Amino acid sequence: MNILAIETSCDDTGVAVVKVGGKKRPRFRILSNFVSSQVEVHKKWGGVYPTLAKREHQKNLPIVFKKALQQAQGERIDLIVVTAGPGLEPCLWVGVNFAKDLAKKLKAPIIPVNHIEAHILINFLNNKCVFPAVCLVVSGGHTQLILMRGIDDYKILGETRDDAAGECFDKTARILGLGYPGGPAIATEAAKFNAPGLKFKVKLPRPMIYQKNYDFSFSGLKTAVLYDFKSRPLKVRKSKEYIQAMAAEIQQAVIDVLIKKTLKAAKDYKVKSIILGGGVAANDELRKQFRVQSSRLKFKFSVPPKVFCTDNAVMTALTGYYHRQEARNKNLESIEAKANLRLK
Ligand code: KG4
Ligand code: ZN
Repeated sequence: MNILAIETSCDDTGVAVVKVGGKKRPRFRILSNFVSSQVEVHKKWGGVYPTLAKREHQKNLPIVFKKALQQAQGERIDLIVVTAGPGLEPCLWVGVNFAKDLAKKLKAPIIPVNHIEAHILINFLNNKCVFPAVCLVVSGGHTQLILMRGIDDYKILGETRDDAAGECFDKTARILGLGYPGGPAIATEAAKFNAPGLKFKVKLPRPMIYQKNYDFSFSGLKTAVLYDFKSRPLKVRKSKEYIQAMAAEIQQAVIDVLIKKTLKAAKDYKVKSIILGGGVAANDELRKQFRVQSSRLKFKFSVPPKVFCTDNAVMTALTGYYHRQEARNKNLESIEAKANLRLK
């Protein structure tokens, strides 16, 4: 079967066509995959501006859709999948309305899917995952720790009480005068950091790391960065040594908390594997340290290829495939965008 998927939950407009074959277990072949990023538009705000993002989706979605269909070379579309939430509601509606119109035109069934689940299920693109698993979804809008006993069997163990991990990178990068999105900018500066001979010390808190729950909090980390930054003389603030040291410490503080809480959940729930997803999972240092720690404790570890960590429609297509039984083409009106859609 051929699945056409649409993703517009935040600032990336994605359309993909994925062919699913295979007998015992599904084999996914990506016929086309286009993502139009709005980074340039949101750069000057240092974050995503919803009304602007909606306008960009409206402009870009028909273009991206056309490209994706052309590259799929006229293959028949058997199923339409669209991200229904969570995300920025005005943006989600652009995708949902487009998908509904398309379903009417093509007389094809349509499935609305959960974006968090999509960040998890992209791990099934080439791999077989072993259950039970603990999944950590870390993106610009979400930080959730989820117990997964199988597909469609989820329990949210914990989540951020304030900022998401990616949001923390984006906001602290802005304080340091680095670009948007902040995650890749912080990672680049952190990679240049060389500790020996440093004239000053940078030490940031690891919020909630020793608490027994599985929740996170990153807004205190951002405030600590702001205070440290403001306490430095202008010359230091602008020096590359300071920026690099700060970037390395921000990155490590986030990684320390994420790894500690995930491993705790994995041990407490006696799972077999650890699964990562979301834009922040594209971070090299995070991937490396997770891999080392998971193998030390004998957990199977899965992380998507970097390009499928950040928002894309291939993950939406895979999620639709696993929910294909729920397809409904008559009851189009019931399909809605929901900013706060929760995993069930
Ligand atoms: O999953 P995603 O594309 O969108 C949301 O659903 O939010 O995640 C975007 C987030 C941004 O906050 C961005 O700074 C972060 O992922 N990010 C990274 C890296 N690449 C993207 N964070 C750390 N290291 C990276 N290499
Ligand atoms: Zn996302």
